Amino acid sequence: MTTDAPRLEIKDICCAFDGRRVVDNVSLRINRGQVTCLLGPSGCGKSTTLRVIAGVEMQDSGEIYVDGKLICDTAHRVPPERREIGLMFQDFALFPHLSVADNVGFGLKTGGKAERRARIEELLERVDLKRFIDGFPHQLSGGEQQRVALARALAPKPKIMLMDEPFSGLDNRLRDGIRDETLTILKEQDTAVLLVTHEPEEAMRMADEIALMRDGRIVQQGAPYNVYTRPMDRAAVAFFSDANVIAAEVNGALARTPFGSFLAPGVPDGTPVDIVFRPQHLRIDFDRAGQGPKPTASDGTAVRALVERSRFMGNESLVEFRLDHDGSVLKSTVPNVFLPKPGTVMWLTIRRDRCFIFPVSERTDKGT
Ligand SMILES: Nc1ncnc2c1ncn2[C@@H]1O[C@H](COP(=O)(O)OP(=O)(O)OP(=O)(O)O)[C@@H](O)[C@H]1O
Ligand SMILES: [Mg+2]
Repeated sequence: MTTDAPRLEIKDICCAFDGRRVVDNVSLRINRGQVTCLLGPSGCGKSTTLRVIAGVEMQDSGEIYVDGKLICDTAHRVPPERREIGLMFQDFALFPHLSVADNVGFGLKTGGKAERRARIEELLERVDLKRFIDGFPHQLSGGEQQRVALARALAPKPKIMLMDEPFSGLDNRLRDGIRDETLTILKEQDTAVLLVTHEPEEAMRMADEIALMRDGRIVQQGAPYNVYTRPMDRAAVAFFSDANVIAAEVNGALARTPFGSFLAPGVPDGTPVDIVFRPQHLRIDFDRAGQGPKPTASDGTAVRALVERSRFMGNESLVEFRLDHDGSVLKSTVPNVFLPKPGTVMWLTIRRDRCFIFPVSERTDKGT
């Protein structure tokens, strides 16, 4: 009966501090070998959710199941050390008086001495630290200590791994390798992983599923492709990239803007909307004796703008434009090197098939 159950399931978890709900009815299901990323702004309740699952924080209501078995509700509670949950938190700490090998072996309760030593060696090899096996934490750099903590968390083959920004202290070059290796180990072990990250790229790279969290709630959840291409609102677009926003109002199922009209089917007349699109979907054309490109039905109308700033970002260039008609700024990313001088006149169109139109309940100037 329990084999079909998700490895980890949490149902309607609520947790409040001083009367303020920090985790608000959060439910999640994570299968064996699946990675779910919890992505959201600072303070939205990500770490608290992980702490509740780990058992170091007590929820006010809601249940936690592992392989279909209830391990915690408000009446019944398996203590943290018996949950078979591995933890890798932001504030990891190694035991300073134990060697690297003993730190990694700390959670290994079973097996003979040789078997344990072999497991420790294997893990240190995989995080590229075998040479430090008999060293002590104070002899290691911060990033190296973090990798030891990672090996320590992986060693007992936990059923569930909770990771709170576990790769944040590693430099870029190391991070990709360690991240992929960690993921391979966790998948091999059929571990269900709940990973907190601030970085959308990390989430896209690692996650089978992304759960967007805001103000204690999960507001959208799905495969990275779906969450990226069908964001629920403007803030969900902005989680993954810069977002350009044009304000408009709907009339006759069309949102009219200087860039032409955008289809807004089903949106009542008079509704204010945000037309939101990513910088890679702003098209740029050169000025041709005071003219832009000839408008086509699918491209709408070209709008005149001046280059405000150009920056080279490595894989792409970021160009900011100030629009003639209202002085607002739109951002564009262009593959490779494209660095027009500030003040250059250009003409902009928007890829209509890549725009999102969101009704706005109340028009404010501040973005989210
Ligand atoms: N033990 C506590 N007592 C009181 N308030 C708390 C406690 N733990 C967390 N909070 C509050 O709960 C809110 C959510 O905190 P949490 O650490 O879960 O956020 P987070 O999403 O992990 O943020 P970050 O990305 O900055 O780590 C914050 O406003 C925080 O101040
Ligand atoms: Mg946190």
